[in-house]
Amino acid sequence: MANAPPVTVPELDLDPFAPAFFDDPYPGHTAVRETASVVMLRPHGCFATGRHAEIRAMLDNWQDYVSGRGVGITDYAHAPPLRGPGMLLETDPPVHTRRRAVVNKVLSPAVVRALRAPFAAAAERIVGRAVAMGRCDGIADLAEAYPLAVFPDALGMPAQGRENLLPFGSFVFNAMGPNNALLQASLAELPPLAAWVTTQSRREALAPGGFGMALHEAADAGDITPEEAALLVRALLSAGVDTTVNAIGAALYCLARFPAEWDRLRAQPSHARNAFEEAIRYECPVQTFFRTTARPVELGGTPIPEGSKVLMFLAAANRDPRRWDDPDRYDITRPTAGHVGFGAGIHMCVGQVLARLEGEAVLTALARRVARIEITDTPVRRHNNTLRGLATLPLRLHPA
Ligand code: HEM
Repeated sequence: MANAPPVTVPELDLDPFAPAFFDDPYPGHTAVRETASVVMLRPHGCFATGRHAEIRAMLDNWQDYVSGRGVGITDYAHAPPLRGPGMLLETDPPVHTRRRAVVNKVLSPAVVRALRAPFAAAAERIVGRAVAMGRCDGIADLAEAYPLAVFPDALGMPAQGRENLLPFGSFVFNAMGPNNALLQASLAELPPLAAWVTTQSRREALAPGGFGMALHEAADAGDITPEEAALLVRALLSAGVDTTVNAIGAALYCLARFPAEWDRLRAQPSHARNAFEEAIRYECPVQTFFRTTARPVELGGTPIPEGSKVLMFLAAANRDPRRWDDPDRYDITRPTAGHVGFGAGIHMCVGQVLARLEGEAVLTALARRVARIEITDTPVRRHNNTLRGLATLPLRLHPA
């Protein structure tokens, strides 16, 4: 996979899959973004960009920057994926177009709108419980508890075994990085998790009326095959939980750190939706994705050969000063349109409407019930090759 770097591409000794980087990625983001429009990351021999314009250009050009060769560091043209390619994420048109149309329908805004009342009720219950606890862990008691309650219900999964979703999601996102200690640890616990997820994705395991069954019904209608239906359920299980957990965790962490923004949210809880969106711009739970060049291309004036892996630092683009005013400020009323925390183009997150509903429900319930969010101890970061988030966020929620 190593590419012979053209002489014009600056090289950086930066490993974005290393513990020190996870603890503080911002100097690295600045180095990638400000050194040049495209750099070469020496530790991995891959191209990378952290600029908003270049990343948008890549996301909007699926013909030249393909996903079918993997959106992680491994080029599937040379090495097989660890556990089958992503059924949507790692496909290109026309296969992607056909499958995406089915999933778009299953997760359409109209379908998701019907979940507003049960999602709001669950948020009141879970936030109410955390407030009653006095001290709580913002991650376990809110950011994890909420999606683990509502998302599998919406999918039609049984209550038993839901805790497997988090380590399985961790594996999926670790697998996009290099074969480092994180991936090894995820792989060691994978076999029973993978077996469980495969069983849960079958028609027999799913309740009628949920997203999972809707995908199997699309197979009955002949829009996809029964095998595709089960694998698309697995895709939603893989992509739908850890992402949202980290996004809700990010929003909580922002609102706890920036009390003036919390006060603005309390004064006007209708900002909840944008406060969540701004947390996704600001913390960017999905930090990076790769594309592979299908032909020789030029990106930001830099020639890149065919078959090159190019790493997109979505998180760096979300704070690119060329695109954003005062990018390092968390501002709940900032116009957030154009952030790439959900991607862009044909692969733009198919679950974004659902994720937004979850985030809005939790922040609205918090804004109604909590006067002040106090961080009571040092938060601990959770390391993952793709996702940014916390393992613990000790809080005291002062009741309103
Ligand atoms: C705040 C939470 C979430 C974030 C930050 C997020 C982020 C992303 C990003 C950045 C992409 C683009 C990947 C690429 O271009 O290669 C994506 C795609 C995707 N997301 Fe999400 N996501 C979230 C929630 C969800 C949920 C709740 C689901 C499932 C219901 C989901 C399912 C997917 C799927 C299946 C894809 C692939 C779409 C395609 O290739 O057409 N995501 N997500």
